[in-house]
Amino acid sequence: MSHHKLIIGNAMSMQEIENESVHLMLTSPPYFNAPFDYKDQYHNYDQYLNVLESVAKEVYRVLKDGRIAVLNIDDMLVNGDKFPIVSHATKIFVDAGFRYRDRIIWEKPDGYLRISRRSGVMLQNPYPMYFYPDNLLESILIFQKGKFDYKSIPKDVREASKIDTKEFSDNKWYMTLWEMTNVLPNSELEKDIAAFPQELPYRIIKLFSYVGETVLDPFVGSGTTMKVARNLNRNSIGIEINETLIPIIKKKMGFDEQISFLDKDDKLEIIIRNDKNECHCKNQWN
Ligand SMILES: C[S@@+](CC[C@H](N)C(=O)[O-])C[C@H]1O[C@@H](n2cnc3c(N)ncnc32)[C@H](O)[C@@H]1O
Repeated sequence: MSHHKLIIGNAMSMQEIENESVHLMLTSPPYFNAPFDYKDQYHNYDQYLNVLESVAKEVYRVLKDGRIAVLNIDDMLVNGDKFPIVSHATKIFVDAGFRYRDRIIWEKPDGYLRISRRSGVMLQNPYPMYFYPDNLLESILIFQKGKFDYKSIPKDVREASKIDTKEFSDNKWYMTLWEMTNVLPNSELEKDIAAFPQELPYRIIKLFSYVGETVLDPFVGSGTTMKVARNLNRNSIGIEINETLIPIIKKKMGFDEQISFLDKDDKLEIIIRNDKNECHCKNQWN
């Protein structure tokens, strides 16, 4: 039986979550003013970094010692300027106290539909200085709070969480390059959300948490992390500022009336805060 808590509010504060009560944090923050999904959302880049800074501090507070925080993020091209989000986010997490552990590159298939075809400039102007590559990559940044005590996990829990080494090898989890197909923007439950594919939380949750532990996603969107946590017998906490996503999250997790494909005793608790829809940014959600 697993327990899931959805908090509708601003992740800059995680007031409902106790110190050192979370075993893994995994999230994909909004991409700074991304042309497709978050156009003009923040007044400026500093305001965006400020949100990441508060979240990093809160994640450090709620995460148990030795545990992992994972950010799926990438540099963002906005109106012709590239913002170095990966390096700034890394600095923000290191300044919050984390050790920088690894960077995985996520490669999307060649035909990825959403990228702006910047490379077309070269076809129209086949001369030096007109080179603007199309981006098929995102970063998966892995941070750690101190060092993990491997002996702290009971033997039965360790065995129940064992990783299938065939899957690990066949799907090349062992490399710093992960090839994963992205979610298409018009998919039923992810429309306008910039969701990541289930494969991403699937790998991270298997690699960095044990059965029965608690996984946190502070920018939970359509609830992909919570769904996969439930499937893998982990508890979850999701924070989402946009209240209108509640039905989508419930449906994705299998908590709407019609579908109940997993253990009926699993619980979803929903907390709606007063700061819901206040994103400390330009556009508010109503
Ligand atoms: C990139 S999406 C996450 C998508 C998610 N990984 C999924 O698979 O559906 C980022 C989400 O963060 C939410 N968000 C933006 N600012 C927030 C904040 N300050 N606190 C909580 N959620 C926020 C947005 O509404 C959006 O749903």
